[in-house]
Amino acid sequence: MTDKDNTEAELTGAEMRRRPRHQPLDLGGHKLSPATLMMGHGFDPMLSEGSLKPPIFLTSTFVFENAAAGKRHFEGVTGKRPGGAEGLVYSRFNGPNQEILEDRLAIWEGAEDALSFSSGMSAIATVLLAFVKPGDVIVHSAPLYAATETLIGKILGRFGVTWIDFPAGATRDEIDAVMECAKAQGRVSLVYLESPANPTNQLVDVEAVTASRDAFFPDEDRPPIAIDNTFLGPLWQQPLRQGADIVLYSLTKYAGGHSDLVAGGAVGTKPVINQIRAMRNTIGTITDPNTAWMLLRSLETLELRMSRAGENAVKVCAFLRDHAKVETVGYLGFLEEGSRQADIYRRHCTGAGSTFSLYLKGGEREAFAFLDNLKIAKLAVSLGGTETLASAPAAMTHLSVPDERKAALGITDNLVRISIGVEAADDLIADFDQALKAV
Ligand SMILES: Cc1ncc(COP(=O)(O)O)c(C=O)c1O
Repeated sequence: MTDKDNTEAELTGAEMRRRPRHQPLDLGGHKLSPATLMMGHGFDPMLSEGSLKPPIFLTSTFVFENAAAGKRHFEGVTGKRPGGAEGLVYSRFNGPNQEILEDRLAIWEGAEDALSFSSGMSAIATVLLAFVKPGDVIVHSAPLYAATETLIGKILGRFGVTWIDFPAGATRDEIDAVMECAKAQGRVSLVYLESPANPTNQLVDVEAVTASRDAFFPDEDRPPIAIDNTFLGPLWQQPLRQGADIVLYSLTKYAGGHSDLVAGGAVGTKPVINQIRAMRNTIGTITDPNTAWMLLRSLETLELRMSRAGENAVKVCAFLRDHAKVETVGYLGFLEEGSRQADIYRRHCTGAGSTFSLYLKGGEREAFAFLDNLKIAKLAVSLGGTETLASAPAAMTHLSVPDERKAALGITDNLVRISIGVEAADDLIADFDQALKAV
């Protein structure tokens, strides 16, 4: 829904659509913060019987005011006119809950536009399909979330798409070398990043990637830069500021935040979002109204939840780092002063997040003993929920990764991945303390 201050009386015929009352983004020059805007932005109660909260619009289709309005909406949906439909058409294309959610998602990163999806992976797949053609080359940072690697390497590979990667922490020179190779290999249609990388937590220098892309593709046909910001976004890292064109999310994680839904998001400039929207309209990867509604509720507490989880992680990691049974803690708050990773962190991030790697002294036996003795933290994959989760990547999420690749990525048998939630930090420390004693 747009912010345009149109009343129904001012709209006629094909333009007829009841728009939400104009809601300010600032008060007399004072810019309102995303945390405040999450309570009402994009929703006008007067369009829904005065309901304070948006109803869930469980409908598969929407009635047009007249035939001309229907035609105009379809011109938007089919891309004859950019910007999507001006009205509500059919629930595979848009819906009130999804549009309010998208308006609010865009707010966090000051993005021009946003889209919501049925999962993080469907967001990523829709972006890839929107930009990549057979024979194209994708440049990407490595490692990527395993399903993203499969999608690029195996599934798009079946359609003649090739890829070339650089390690997440690569320098400008290393990135340039890969860009040069990729350009020689074919049409580069997308630069795809993930930072911090799952599971290594390595940060990508997005500024350097942007500078390299701009240097190698100074004119038209410039490949957009997409980045998966699931681990730190939108609170602790906002890569549009470093030059990314599309920021992707598994909203299943911190944005959803309660481990009770699966969804994805993409934010960026209007032209790139329009291109992705056209693909989403075709393949139907939009989120459903109920999940969109749950996400609206989640976004109201996003800053509270992420802040608390981040503060907890600082305390828990400080405890774990000094523990006799711990080899090391891979946490963004502990980067070595003066290192390249610390430099990227200083330029790109405003917080270290709450997901980290714990390497215990020993191997699988010790990691399993620790996991099996946790009383508060839950033994489960995923991250970013209100509850603390712990898992063993080598035996679980990354079980199918070949041994040498696991070793190269630091996915060893003694590794435990932890996502800290919003419980009381002292209780979590007590839990980790007793579980370590049992190792
Ligand atoms: C970094 C990252 N990107 C994408 C995904 C996929 O998200 P979803 O499970 O919502 O499809 C995940 C899931 O764990 C992830 O960790």
